[in-house]
Amino acid sequence: MELKERLQNKTAKIGVIGLGYVGLPLAVEFADRGFSVLGIDNDESKIASLNNAHNYINDVEDSKFKRVVTSGTLKATISYSSIPELDVIYICVPTPFTKNKEPDVSYIESATEGIAAGLRKGHLIILKSTTFPDTTEGIVQPILEKTGLKVGTDFYLAFSPERIDPGNKIFTTATTPVVVGGVTEKCTELACLVNQQIIHKVVPVSSPKVAEMEKLLENIFRSVNIALVNEMARLCDRMGGIDIWEVVEAAATKPYGFMPFYPGPGIGGHCILIDPYYLSWKAREYDFHTQFIELAAETNENMPFYVLGLIRRALSYAGIPFHQARIFMLGVAFKKDVDDTRESPALKIMEFLMQRGVHPDNIRFNDPYVKSAKVNGTSFFSVDLTVENLRLADVVVITTDHSLYEAEFIVEHATSVVDTRNLTKNIKNNEKISKLGAGTRF
Ligand SMILES: NC(=O)c1ccc[n+]([C@@H]2O[C@H](COP(=O)([O-])OP(=O)(O)OC[C@H]3O[C@@H](n4cnc5c(N)ncnc54)[C@H](O)[C@@H]3O)[C@@H](O)[C@H]2O)c1
Repeated sequence: MELKERLQNKTAKIGVIGLGYVGLPLAVEFADRGFSVLGIDNDESKIASLNNAHNYINDVEDSKFKRVVTSGTLKATISYSSIPELDVIYICVPTPFTKNKEPDVSYIESATEGIAAGLRKGHLIILKSTTFPDTTEGIVQPILEKTGLKVGTDFYLAFSPERIDPGNKIFTTATTPVVVGGVTEKCTELACLVNQQIIHKVVPVSSPKVAEMEKLLENIFRSVNIALVNEMARLCDRMGGIDIWEVVEAAATKPYGFMPFYPGPGIGGHCILIDPYYLSWKAREYDFHTQFIELAAETNENMPFYVLGLIRRALSYAGIPFHQARIFMLGVAFKKDVDDTRESPALKIMEFLMQRGVHPDNIRFNDPYVKSAKVNGTSFFSVDLTVENLRLADVVVITTDHSLYEAEFIVEHATSVVDTRNLTKNIKNNEKISKLGAGTRF
């Protein structure tokens, strides 16, 4: 039976390689629509959690997750041996960078090798991991074609980038449009059809390279705009008397041609910080220097250092020697209402504090979504956000504006607050607060 028909009567078997923040929601969505789904991951703890119906990704609705696992529509395994039984295989593995900020596509390569070992006629492979242009055709396709099978006739291959925004309650997997670029027209057509089973709007483009570049444009657009507003925040601090947050809100009243971006303690997560480097690296192959990208990265990566400066100033204002300081960090997740600490600026700030002589025992954190975090080999455990813990600290640093945080409570009981997220926006003229981009206490 043709894949089209198997999709229509929901007998097509879907495989998802990499069951993390991207792969698990995708697998659950297909299973929820009645498809039989097999997840493959090389992390045994994830496989055990999934098969025991233990949901490990906050964004995935618990009841939906339990329903699809207990009914047997979604299963997981560490082994690639079932590849030949699958019809469609999504690749959702990590694309990190190396210490020197060069792309590491080894996870894509190893997942593709795993597929190649079981590749058969009729397979459709969809790469979702964010990567530089030409990964699909230049890296994935050759590995698959080493089997002797040909793309476009024997098997089908497309790139369809992920747009999931962890923590976003409005735009979910189903309601966020996706782009699809197949190696051939038939590849695009089939990959669109598969995505349409779970996503309302699917946008075909002319090639995988266009889809790969478009995803990088989305993330670089964010990186550059965040850098711009971070630069303006620092200028506001220098000038004094202008609050960048108020400036952004005012600018956002323009009904066209402006989109608000906000300053912060730095960029975190698996995407905005890393992905731009994928393009800068690729560009160098063409003797091209992506200056906007590099400048934005530099500006954003300086922000945790800048916040360290704000903490230093708050301490010196209170007459407390830096090395004796007791610091209470609020929020170590890289953004609000999520549990993801990858590349978190809060953890970088903690690292800088330790490197500069603050004793780890004097650094504490609270995060309603994160129980523990490791910084340079030292483990930290979330402590309660209590009156006592706030009072114990010389400086309370708001690094993530989780919805559960109440600014009034924090400011009332803290001695000094460095606010990097404008959580304290409704508290005016309070001497305790140093707010990033508000030119206070300078
Ligand atoms: N997290 C996001 O919000 C987001 C959004 C858009 C795009 N992306 C992109 O999606 C991709 C995946 O990101 P993520 O956040 O889901 O990563 P993740 O680390 O949460 O999940 C990836 C999973 O892949 C598994 N894995 C690694 N190599 C494997 C292999 N060879 N075989 C089987 N499993 C393997 C890991 O064990 C892990 O469970 C990345 O390219 C990322 O840039 C992520």
